[in-house]
Amino acid sequence: MSRKLFVTTALPYANAPFHIGHIMEYIQADIWVRFQRMREDDGIPREVHFVCADDVHGAPIMIAAEKAGKTPQEFVAEIAATRQGTLNGFHIAFDNWDSTDSEDNHILSRDIYLRLKGEGLIEERTVEQFFDPVKNMFLPDRYVKGECPRCGAKDQNGDSCESCSSVYAPTELKSPHSVLTGAPPVIRSSEHFFFRLSDPRCVAFLREWTLSENSAAPRLQPEVANKAREWLTGKEGEETGLSDWDISRDAPYFGIEIPDAPGKYFYVWLDAPVGYLASLRSYFRKTGRDFEAFISDPGTEQYHFIGKDIIYFHTLFWPAMLHFSGRKVPDNVFVHGFVTVSGEKMSKSRGTGISPRRYLDIGMDPEWLRYYIAAKLNAHVEDMDFAAEDFIARVNADLVGKYVNIASRAAGFIIKRFSGTVDIGSPGEPDSFLGQLRGVSDSIAAAYEAREYSRALREIMHCADKVNAYADMHKPWILVKDPARTPLLLEVCSSILEAFRILTIYLKPVLPALAEKVAIFLNVPSLQWKDVQTPLPKGHIIHPYTHLLQRVSSAQFDALLSDASPPTNPLPPDAPSPFDEEPLSPEITIDDFSRVDLRIAKIVDCSLVDGADRLLRLSVDVGEGRLRQVFAGIRSAYQPEQLIGQMTVLVANLAPRKMKFGISEGMVLAASGSAGTGIYILQPWAGAAPGMRVR
Ligand code: 2FM
Ligand code: ZN
Repeated sequence: MSRKLFVTTALPYANAPFHIGHIMEYIQADIWVRFQRMREDDGIPREVHFVCADDVHGAPIMIAAEKAGKTPQEFVAEIAATRQGTLNGFHIAFDNWDSTDSEDNHILSRDIYLRLKGEGLIEERTVEQFFDPVKNMFLPDRYVKGECPRCGAKDQNGDSCESCSSVYAPTELKSPHSVLTGAPPVIRSSEHFFFRLSDPRCVAFLREWTLSENSAAPRLQPEVANKAREWLTGKEGEETGLSDWDISRDAPYFGIEIPDAPGKYFYVWLDAPVGYLASLRSYFRKTGRDFEAFISDPGTEQYHFIGKDIIYFHTLFWPAMLHFSGRKVPDNVFVHGFVTVSGEKMSKSRGTGISPRRYLDIGMDPEWLRYYIAAKLNAHVEDMDFAAEDFIARVNADLVGKYVNIASRAAGFIIKRFSGTVDIGSPGEPDSFLGQLRGVSDSIAAAYEAREYSRALREIMHCADKVNAYADMHKPWILVKDPARTPLLLEVCSSILEAFRILTIYLKPVLPALAEKVAIFLNVPSLQWKDVQTPLPKGHIIHPYTHLLQRVSSAQFDALLSDASPPTNPLPPDAPSPFDEEPLSPEITIDDFSRVDLRIAKIVDCSLVDGADRLLRLSVDVGEGRLRQVFAGIRSAYQPEQLIGQMTVLVANLAPRKMKFGISEGMVLAASGSAGTGIYILQPWAGAAPGMRVR
């Protein structure tokens, strides 16, 4: 038996960079995916595919492109170019990032539509629609604003209400005005296509899919099922039924043209979710897999992580579109709440004051944010507040104070006194200190599986408390003073490091880069879930401890929330200034400098070098139409997988150097200070392309 998982996050509109709400959702899903990929210890291998795409169609993007003097295609391509840098920055590892304007999406969207039509579920009708008499065009939903017809909230978009999540037609809005010109819109008629959701077949299917009336366990989160019940049966429980869904828009429109209907386009919300399938389809083609076989396999589980504002589209339209076009339906949608900042609600289009790009650019650690978000997330549709003091406390007190510090409490003794060799004595009976840490593996796994990340982290931090209590009780710093107690010192410090290894496995879905560093430090080849149960063997040798994670400062937060320049990253308190070790070099002229030809390089491949434990072999693309081989002494800081696909800077005109392992054709740039402060490879900002000169 194996599990086949297809996981997506909502496709972001391609008219703006990511905001913190996107990143929160991607981190939530990425943690779940990483957990699934680690978890084969229960004997069930997982095949997990995790994709997303830009949601590029629709009038708002068309109008924004026009304002910017660009074609819609150019406009969305510029946004798309910024995506990967931010995703890499937060260690969000989608297998594929696509666009809803892809060939695959055109094909699949038309196919699904034609099948719905074949089922008799598409109907043509004349509709009365808002028309802007000044701009001379039909007004897209979002370009009409007014009061919500359901709850009366002011300044709501024409298609849905941010306040009560209702979805409605723009003509239902009270006191409407055109956002483009401010003019009160007039009503004109036009031929539109409708998906007949009111058809009894649709209603019956959706009742079952959303409310699971005939199955043992409910599918949807209770809050989500309640919403669906309201929409399907009306507020008082009377069968109001579903309204048919207008799926077409008139030219001019940036979208997919409807078959046999020139000048008519699919409404963006029709082709957007199809983009989930299209992204998977193009990814499968690139990797030589069979898309139709996978997606139609009844054993494939399909999950969509989404925000609470798009429940309607994902619990009604999307399952019905799939079902009545003869496709497998999603197994579930996992809905989260909004991000608020210091209690203030974020707007979907305006974002919050916290920019993910700025967070990365001022050098804040992405894993602080991953940890903080995980510590606050559960499986309910609850809003998540982002507050500076809370963030600082959780990162510094829990993550660094309780977990990261464990390693430094024992590593020095093992390196200095025992040449790095560990021996934990007995592997740990179930009721021993280590046995207890191993014993909670299933319970923590169950919490991750159920997306109860805050519970998982609480359990893990509870384990960390036990490890710290163990260290406090045995006091290695006292044991070291008594030569007669050397064997106990070895056992205690080894056990602390073994405990640190176990905790690192538990935290790895949340902290993947930190776990990689720990794997290097502990000199272990893998940190999979099953490895919890296999202790470090007697005689295992670890590497010297290198600094793992900084504390966050409130000055960094101030810089994040303002335009103030960020504080420089403080070095660990015991580190000398880099200038003490290496004074400033003699002055050079600009001409001296320009003799060094620095180029942007993409690391296309990276591998270990047999017989050289300091080196990595890189295969880099500097835009010359060939790849160069470069050896870099950065093995202690990076695992090959971390570097593949990343950009860096190469000294491109350095004379080739013949080494024992082959020729090195250049040098990648990396920063380093005094011993123990790490090596940091240089990375350009998003947008830099292979071959660009750095000057
Ligand atoms: O609400 C949004 O941001 C949409 N772009 C989400 C689309 S999700 C999916 F259906 F494509
Ligand atoms: Zn409302």
